[in-house]
Amino acid sequence: MAALLETRGLTAQYGQFKALFGVDLQVAPGECVAIIGANGAGKTTLMRSITGVLRNAPEMILHNGIPIGALSADQVMQRGIAMVPEGRRLFPSLSVEENLLIGGQVRRGDGRWTLEAVYTLFPVLRERRRSPGTALSGGQQQMVAIGRALMSNPGLLLCDEISLGLAPVVIRDIYAALPAIRETGAAVVIVEQDISRALSVADRIYCMMEGRVTLTGRAADMTRDAIHAAYFGNAA
Ligand SMILES: Nc1ncnc2c1ncn2[C@@H]1O[C@H](COP(=O)(O)OP(=O)(O)OP(=O)(O)O)[C@@H](O)[C@H]1O
Ligand SMILES: [Mg+2]
Repeated sequence: MAALLETRGLTAQYGQFKALFGVDLQVAPGECVAIIGANGAGKTTLMRSITGVLRNAPEMILHNGIPIGALSADQVMQRGIAMVPEGRRLFPSLSVEENLLIGGQVRRGDGRWTLEAVYTLFPVLRERRRSPGTALSGGQQQMVAIGRALMSNPGLLLCDEISLGLAPVVIRDIYAALPAIRETGAAVVIVEQDISRALSVADRIYCMMEGRVTLTGRAADMTRDAIHAAYFGNAA
C-alpha cells in the first residue's frame, strides 16, 4: 500500500553541521505515529524538512508517492500537510480568531475544519476569541496553534512537542482532542519526549538519536528496555 508520507534516506544540515543522517520514515493514511528522542536528536529538523522549511532533494520526501522534498513551505501546506510548530508561534498582535483565520488562508475544500468546528473542539477559545494571543495561558495558546493548523484541513498534521511546558491537566485536555482530529481521517505525527504518552496515543513509534532512527515498531510491541537503549545508546 502506498504511504501517505515517506522519507527516504533523508538528510539535513545546518551549514557544516549534519543534523539528519538518512532517515526513513513512513506514515500510512489515518495513522498516528510518534517520534521520540532526547534533546537534539533531530526531531524538529525532521518536521522542518517535511514541511519545506528546510529544502531537500525532491525524492527524499514523498507525499502520496509524489516527490515533494524541494517544495516550499507554502506548496507543502497546499498539499495538505500542516504543522503545529515547536513553541506555538502565534501572531502576538492578533486575536485568537485572527490567528485561526490565518491558518484557513491555505484551505483545502474537502475537509470539515471551520472556526465553528475548532471552537467546538476547544470551547475555551470561543470565549477568548477576541483576546490577543499573548493574553492566553500556555495551554490556550497551544490550542490556538493546533486550531490554526487544522483550519487548512490537513490530511497530515505534524505536532512538535505540543505538551512542552504545560501542566499535566492541560496536557490531558490537549491530547483529548486527538481522537476528534483522527476521526476526520487525518494522519497525525506527534513529536513527544514523554515516552509513556507516545506509547499510549500512537500506532507506531520511531525513536531517534543523533540524527538517526534507532528503533521503530508498533507501539504495542515496544519494550521499555528497547526504548531506553534506542534513546540513550546503551542497554538499560
Ligand atoms: N538553526 C540551527 N542551526 C544550527 N544547528 C541547529 C539548528 N537547529 C538545530 N540545530 C542542531 O541540530 C541538531 C538537531 O536539532 P533539533 O532541533 O532537530 O533536535 P530536537 O530533537 O528537535 O531537540 P529538542 O527536543 O530539543 O527540540 C541539534 O544538535 C541542534 O543543535
Ligand atoms: Mg525539537
